[in-house]
Amino acid sequence: MYKSKITGLGKYVPDNIVTNNDLTKYMDTNDQWIRERTGIEERRWAVPGDGNTAATMGVKAAKIALERANLTPKDIDFIVFATLSPDYYFPGSGVQVQDMLGCDTIGALDVRNQCSGFIYALTTADQFIKTGMYKNILVIGSELQSTGLDLSTRGRGVGVIFGDGAGAVVLSRSDDDSDILSNHLHSEGKYASELTVKVPGGENPPNKLVENWDPEDLTYYPYMNGNYVFKHAVTRFPEAIMEGLKANNLTPQDIDLLIPHQANLRISQFVQKRLRMKDEQIMNNIQKYGNTTAASIPIAMTEAWEQGRMKRGDIVVTAAFGSGFTWGSNIIKF
Ligand code: COA
Repeated sequence: MYKSKITGLGKYVPDNIVTNNDLTKYMDTNDQWIRERTGIEERRWAVPGDGNTAATMGVKAAKIALERANLTPKDIDFIVFATLSPDYYFPGSGVQVQDMLGCDTIGALDVRNQCSGFIYALTTADQFIKTGMYKNILVIGSELQSTGLDLSTRGRGVGVIFGDGAGAVVLSRSDDDSDILSNHLHSEGKYASELTVKVPGGENPPNKLVENWDPEDLTYYPYMNGNYVFKHAVTRFPEAIMEGLKANNLTPQDIDLLIPHQANLRISQFVQKRLRMKDEQIMNNIQKYGNTTAASIPIAMTEAWEQGRMKRGDIVVTAAFGSGFTWGSNIIKF
């Protein structure tokens, strides 16, 4: 079996900064509530007409990752794209990236696992590298969420949390000790309705929505049972991390950097306390970007690398929990 190595990292976020105070223009909320409950201070939201979509932001992040990996689009053998906010209902965004980057007619796969999307995407890419099928894979997490949120007071429990942006990594066949040591993935579909967007879907196609328009039916907006998600998240995050660590005979103290999905600063702090980890062992940047769903881990990973917090040989751990419910972890020897 071959080993997998992260050879390039890139991120892109829209220029437009939306502070908590800015949100008071749309809804009854306040900076103190948002900071205390989530840790979020500001987020980036694309501006209509600025050209930012899940695909185009993914391409911008991918170009940086490719340059840092010293590769060109022609060197890429496969694309894995994770998003819950694709440009089109179908096809997925991976094929847009293939076209926009000018890659050969390589395979492109979309992953729809929301907050744990990047972990599923990286795991998928890792399998293709490990078996020897591909040598260089572009793994992208990208989200344009601002256009799909209920920005009225009715939707404030969700609207204040989510942000736009993209992160990308190049995963290559490793020629040294660097490797993805393990991946653990889980799901529990009985909780699917606790965090969901139901429309459009097979049961609720757009034509039904138009023909039987019910202004009270808001199922095209994300629904989140926040308390419920929170309670599950604080159990599943540590579980997924410990499962990965145990598989590699490691302990939380061996982690050089934990990069949790940036769901809520309180969740990350809870996990840190539970695993008795030091501040320098954990990456938090939700304060600046909000929850960018599938993009949050690659954005945080890129930022950690840019800040010198992730060095070759480090044990880097990712973990996520979200809609599905789905959750998981990657244990990486960077
Ligand atoms: N501004 C001001 N008040 C708000 C608000 C906002 N943006 N959103 C909700 N409130 C109000 C509620 O209406 C409620 O008021 P009430 O007590 O008068 O009814 C009160 O604040 C408490 O709401 P609640 O939903 O119980 O807050 P919470 O402490 O559970 O925090 C979340 C809400 C969403 C921040 C929290 O549940 C959470 O982070 N959950 C997990 C989210 C997550 O991880 N999601 C992504 C999946 S990875």
